Amino acid sequence: LLTNPTSCREWRQQIRGDHKSVGFVATMGALHAGHLSLVRHSKQANDKTVVSIFVNPAQFAPHEDLSAYPRTIEQDLRGLEEIGGVDAVFLPGVKDMYPFGIVQDVEQQRGTFVEVKGYGSEMEGRSRPSFFRGVATVVTKLFNVVEPTRVYFGQKDIQQALLLRRMCSDLLLSHPEPRNLHIVPTERDRTDNLALSSRNAYLSSEERKVANALYRALSLAKGVWETGLSKSECVARSRGFVESVRDNAGVEMRLDYIELNDSDSLEVVGDDKTKVDYGTRPVLLSGALWVGRTRLIDNLILGDP
Ligand code: PAJ
Repeated sequence: LLTNPTSCREWRQQIRGDHKSVGFVATMGALHAGHLSLVRHSKQANDKTVVSIFVNPAQFAPHEDLSAYPRTIEQDLRGLEEIGGVDAVFLPGVKDMYPFGIVQDVEQQRGTFVEVKGYGSEMEGRSRPSFFRGVATVVTKLFNVVEPTRVYFGQKDIQQALLLRRMCSDLLLSHPEPRNLHIVPTERDRTDNLALSSRNAYLSSEERKVANALYRALSLAKGVWETGLSKSECVARSRGFVESVRDNAGVEMRLDYIELNDSDSLEVVGDDKTKVDYGTRPVLLSGALWVGRTRLIDNLILGDP
C-alpha cells in the first residue's frame, strides 16, 4: 500500500532498474467486476500492476456527489486479493494530489489544470462542463507518479478514454505512449446488461429494475441506425422508448442525452446523417439517463470497431 507520491515513486524506482513493464489502472474505488476486468488485462500483459484509488474532488462539480461517493477501501483491497492481488495499490490523500488544496468551483481555482479542447465539451461535457478538466488533470498527475508502461481504461467511459489518449499524444507523453492506452470492453450485469458502475449502488430496488432502460434505448437506436434511418430518428425513438418505460414503471426517469459521434475525433454526427454516410467507419452511440437521483451512462460502438 503506497499512501503518498513519494513512496509510490520509490517503489517505481526499484522496478526501473529491472526494466520491468508496469501496467496501471486508475480508479475512484468502490471496485466492481468492471474495474477488476481492467486489472486482469493489466496483469496479463505486464510484469507489475498498480491500481490507484483516489476520489478526485476536481472532477466533481459543487452540486455533485463528492461526499456521497462510495468509499469502500477494505472491500476494494479484498476484491483485488480475490483475483490474485496486484503489486501495488496507490492510495494518495487529497493533499498529496493537490498540495495547494483544491476548490471545486472552476472560477475559484488557481494553479495548473489540463484541458483537452474539443474532446470534453460534447456528450458528458455538456452536462458536466468542468468534469474532463478534472479528470485530465488528475490522470496527468497519476501518470507522472506511476510512470506506467501500459494503462487500461474502460469503454464504459469511452469519452474519457479517447480524450486521455489524445492527451497522451498532445503532451508527447512516454509514460504511457498513446498506443499503450488500452480500452477494455464494458462489463455488464449478466441478467439485464446494465453497465456495472459504482453509482449503481445509489439505486433503490425499484429504480434498479428499470435502470437498464438506457442500454435498451441504445440497442434500439443501434437497430434504427442499422436499418438506414437518420440520427434524429434514432434519438427520437430512443427518447420515446425511455418515456414509455418511465410511464409504466412509476420511477422518475429522464434521458439526459443520446448522441452519435465520430469514434475517433468525437465530432457530433449531423441530425440528417445515416449509416450510409459513415460507410465502414465506426460510430459511437452514447447516452446518459437519470434514474431517480442517479445519473447513469452507457455506450455502444456501431460498425466495425
Ligand atoms: P472510476 O469510475 O472508478 O472508473 C475507473 C475505470 O474503470 C475507468 O477506466 C472506467 O471506464 C472503468 N470502468 C468503470 N465501469 C466499468 C465497466 N462496467 N466495465 C469496464 N470498465 C469500467 O473513471 C474514473 O474512475 C475516474 O474518472 C478516473 C479515471 C480514476 C480519474 O479520476
